[in-house]
Amino acid sequence: MQIERDSFTSKFGVIAAAAGSAIGLGNIWKFPYIAGENGGGVFLVVYLVFIALIGIPVMMSEFIIGRKAQQNVFGAFRSLSKSGFWQIIGVMGVLAAFFILSFYGTVASWTIEYLLLAVKNSFAGKNADQIGEMFTVFSTGTYKPVIYQIVFMALTALIVMGGIKKGIEKYTKILMPLLIVIIIYLDITAIALKGGSEGLRFLFNPDFTKLTPHLFIVALGHAFFTLSLGMGVLMTYASYFNKDTNITGTSISVAVADTVIAILAGVAIFPAVFAFNTQPTEGPGLVFVTLPNIFELIPGGYIFSILFFLLLGVAALTSSISILEVVVAYLSEEKNITRTKATIIAASTITVSGILCTLSIGPLKNFLLLGYNIFDLLDFIASNILLPLGGMLISIFVGWKLDKSIVIDELSNYGTIRIMFFRIFLFSVRYLAPIAIFFVFLYGIGLFSF
Ligand code: PHE
Repeated sequence: MQIERDSFTSKFGVIAAAAGSAIGLGNIWKFPYIAGENGGGVFLVVYLVFIALIGIPVMMSEFIIGRKAQQNVFGAFRSLSKSGFWQIIGVMGVLAAFFILSFYGTVASWTIEYLLLAVKNSFAGKNADQIGEMFTVFSTGTYKPVIYQIVFMALTALIVMGGIKKGIEKYTKILMPLLIVIIIYLDITAIALKGGSEGLRFLFNPDFTKLTPHLFIVALGHAFFTLSLGMGVLMTYASYFNKDTNITGTSISVAVADTVIAILAGVAIFPAVFAFNTQPTEGPGLVFVTLPNIFELIPGGYIFSILFFLLLGVAALTSSISILEVVVAYLSEEKNITRTKATIIAASTITVSGILCTLSIGPLKNFLLLGYNIFDLLDFIASNILLPLGGMLISIFVGWKLDKSIVIDELSNYGTIRIMFFRIFLFSVRYLAPIAIFFVFLYGIGLFSF
């Protein structure tokens, strides 16, 4: 059955949608908290190196495969290679989508609560301890976080049912620039805080004695997570690209925008951490226990706190729809299920495993597997194992398996634009990315040391 495929209507729409997938909780919630747990500046350096040398080339690879094949991940590898082996990327991708959207929904439910708290002006008059307490009470609860998670998943499913053009493009274009403006306002206030400069030092002065094998794995995993790489999200989006999309330029723009937002978030959060005596190693609640302190201080804090948590929720939504899209495209195009049905099946099963993640912060917190609660375990397996492995296979596929003429055609839009950085790209996808990912793994699990 030939299904007519949607496509993006404008060049900005393409970048906005890819950036909308990349920019999300990963930048504003996850980056600061894992940087805080892994030494700050030294984490930032390793993470930036991974983004530039591995992230961008893998992103270009996903775009090449997706636009060439014009299909979901499974179909793409089936049409580009006779060997069934590469389908494993699709299998890992669907699994990763499942895991990520589960814990992503948990954090999204926190943004809904914080939006409501902001509307009720609940941060006003509270000191840093009380604000920390608010987070603990809510996040370890049983009913509220679960209900908000269901609301968030339902919204995600509704947008995905609406299709690509109408659903995704419309929202990302206007709202993301607004989020950036608010974060910059928070940055300015944070930098001026008494004791804030210590936070900047923490983020920008790398202390290389803090390098650990674990840091490398987490930084690599986060480079993939934050750019939405390694599981076919951007491959699926690229299947909707039109023929003038500049693959190299789009990859660089998305990576730069994504990184800038993560750093801007860090600049708002770490000065506040030090000024209000929170710990950088606070963990997943970091953003939620630091930023409300700043909102209390700034002019217009009430309005800005509402806008901030609203837009953070929207940023989460534009990422979560891209994750759900992987599963839906797979079910609807591979299993011949209607889009609506596929969305309902995928979203409801993910909601169930997501609820387990949410409860693993509170009622189920003593249920540990391999030393992790369910939330951290799904994050670890998906971000630090499945995504980098997927990225490694994707880069090997484009570097060694795909016809070089296809790579050149896709990067040059069939000879109509000049290819930039081709040699660096080829070197990275052939050698650098696969070998580096391989060694980071061995090093992280202790099988190899420098
Ligand atoms: N990149 C998104 C973020 O930073 C999360 C995401 C991961 C989206 C993997 C798609 C795929 O929030």
